[in-house]
Amino acid sequence: MELYLDTANIKLIKQMCEIYPISGITCNPSIVIKDNATIEEMCSLDERLKVCIQVIGETVEDMLVDADKILALRPNVIVKVPVTPVGYQVLHILSKKKVHTLATAIHNVAQALFAAQCGATYLAPYVNRICENDVDGVQTVIDMHHALLNQQSSTKIIAASFKNLYQVSTLLAAGVDAVTVSPELFNKWIDNQDTRLAVDKFTSDWQKAFNYKHL
Ligand code: G3P
Repeated sequence: MELYLDTANIKLIKQMCEIYPISGITCNPSIVIKDNATIEEMCSLDERLKVCIQVIGETVEDMLVDADKILALRPNVIVKVPVTPVGYQVLHILSKKKVHTLATAIHNVAQALFAAQCGATYLAPYVNRICENDVDGVQTVIDMHHALLNQQSSTKIIAASFKNLYQVSTLLAAGVDAVTVSPELFNKWIDNQDTRLAVDKFTSDWQKAFNYKHL
């Protein structure tokens, strides 16, 4: 499993990646703005992290200019490209240049498979946004995963856009390669309230019996 944090909060990224085995960072232009970050700061993150930066251009030429900028800043950056008519062309061009890419804003299996056909390294289906269209987003991503396996594709899924851990758990249990989650959802992931209640009881029983909180 690979776990990515979907954020551009530089301070938080450095803090969390220091203490947990985080595989990488994803973001999109809205997140970069919300978290008051710069592309330069994102590209300066620890080299061991897989960092995914999204292009903003609307033409092939402008997307390639964006890609060149972030590749110059971080040679191992993963260039995030939306699956638009222009985006598919850019994925194909960057694939031929051996640039690692993340095809993003995917909402159905056909988009995912064509992005893989264009040479995308990774795919980012938007689980919860698919659900908002009254389509089972979790099952859609599982179908993508099975289709890629059937085609023996090397393209991997980094599922995105989650609103709860049930969605995350179901996809990971189905064998999906990676997920990217918001810091808020990651905190719910690692700080389960039922686990906390169980541990509090253990501690309370021990303290009542021995009047201290260590073995
Ligand atoms: O990277 C894409 C992801 O951030 C979208 O998530 O919650 O805005 O649907 P959300």
